[in-house]
Parts: sequence; C-alpha cells; structure tokens
Amino acid sequence: MHKKLIVGNLKMNPLTPTEFGRYLDGLEKDMKGKRFEKTEIVVCPPAVYFRQFVERKMKDVKLGAQDVYWEYQGAFTGEISAGMMKANGAQYSIVGHSERRKYFGENEEIINLKLKAILKSGLNAILCIGESGEERKSNQTAPVLKKQLEKSLAGIGVGKSEYITIAYEPIWAVGTDKIPSSDEVLEAKIIIKKILTELYSRKAVEKMRILYGGSVKSHCAGQVCVDPAMDGALIGRESLTPYDFIKIAKIIDEK
Ligand code: 13P
Repeated sequence: MHKKLIVGNLKMNPLTPTEFGRYLDGLEKDMKGKRFEKTEIVVCPPAVYFRQFVERKMKDVKLGAQDVYWEYQGAFTGEISAGMMKANGAQYSIVGHSERRKYFGENEEIINLKLKAILKSGLNAILCIGESGEERKSNQTAPVLKKQLEKSLAGIGVGKSEYITIAYEPIWAVGTDKIPSSDEVLEAKIIIKKILTELYSRKAVEKMRILYGGSVKSHCAGQVCVDPAMDGALIGRESLTPYDFIKIAKIIDEK
C-alpha cells in the first residue's frame, strides 16, 4: 500500500524570510518525537523560500512547488520551470489549483501542459480538481470532474499514473469554512476512481492517491478525510500554523 499524503499549500505566505525561518522552527518543534509511519508530509512554500527549506535538512518533511511553467527554459519572464523546481529541492508540484484557474485564467489545456512538464521533470504531481457551488447545486459535479480529469490527463500514459495524486478540492469549500459531508466526499472519490479506471486500469488506479482539500481543520479532518477513507489532505490556512498542520497529519496517520 502507498503512504498517505499530507500537503501544506502555504500559497503567498509568509511575508519574509525571517517569518519563514520561524515557521520552519515551529515545524521542527512540532514534528519532534512524532513518527509518521503511514504518511508523507509535504510543504509547498513560495519558491523564493526553497533554499531556506532545503538548508534545514528536515528528514520527514518534503518540499513541493505550488505551480510550474510548462516550458523547459528560455525567454518566459517571471516563470519557473518544473526542472528548476526539482533542481532546487522540490519533489512534488501542485497543478491546476482553483486559484490558478480563477485568477490566472488556467484552463485544462494549460493544466495538461503543466502536468506533462511536471512528470517529465521527475516531480510528482498533485492535480487539483473540483466543482463550483453552482455546479454542485445543478448536479454537475460528476460531469465537471470527468471533464477536468479527461482533459488534464490527455496524452498521459498509464506508466506515469503512479506519479499523479488527485486532490479533490470543491471550489466552494476552499477558504470558506464550508465543508462537504463524509458521504459527499466519498461520492466524489467514487466518481474520480471510476473515471480514472476508464482512463487507466483498476490496478493502476490502486496506486494513485486521492486527497481531500478545502477548509480542512483538525476538528473536521475525521469527517472529510478519515471517514471517506481519503489518502490524505491538501491544506491551506491550517498549514500556516505548524502545530495545527501536524495535528491534522497525526489524525490522518493514525487512522
Ligand atoms: P483552505 O484549507 O484554506 O480552505 O485552502 C485549501 C486549499 O486551497 C489548499 O490548496
């Protein structure tokens, strides 16, 4: 069995290297003496903090990127390639986050290019998908997830599937403190597994992890992650406080 995966998406935080240093101090302190037998822990800070992260040489916390650009190298002002993220210590990259879709106009074609670049560079991908509140209300969850998965994974063969983790992040639950019921998460997981099985195979899908993301807190981690037997969590705000982040990781690791 694969390990569970707990990912902290720090988004555009913290503000300074000093604050990030304190964050890392907190992580070290809160990880001390704890063993995570069944769980991988990944933190995705802004890329400007990668070196600081790597220099800490933390044994049990891996580094991830929040996004990459799909080209390999060249005149693309402001962008960072997947290969550069990897060469600077990242082992994972998030792709297709709903904030990238909303504020930066990313669509499935772009996400597909980025996903291919991530896999080609040797990084593991965390592909975010999820329906909006409107789509849920109009019973569009299944077709939306199907479209997102089929288009984002187009041209990516079964040989690469084990390096892809799917994060089910309903858009209406991101940053809102609204959360789905266990049954709703389970239902989405079943839909996702079915679509993936059609694209790949049952055996291949067993190796793919499916996470839940959107307003995960320690008091609801049982409801949205443990009860629907998700393979982990993608955590935003609550990952900004090492104590809370590690608390959620422990709850999921121990189940
Ligand atoms: P919150 O946990 O702050 O709702 O954010 C979720 C998220 O977007 C993780 O990628």
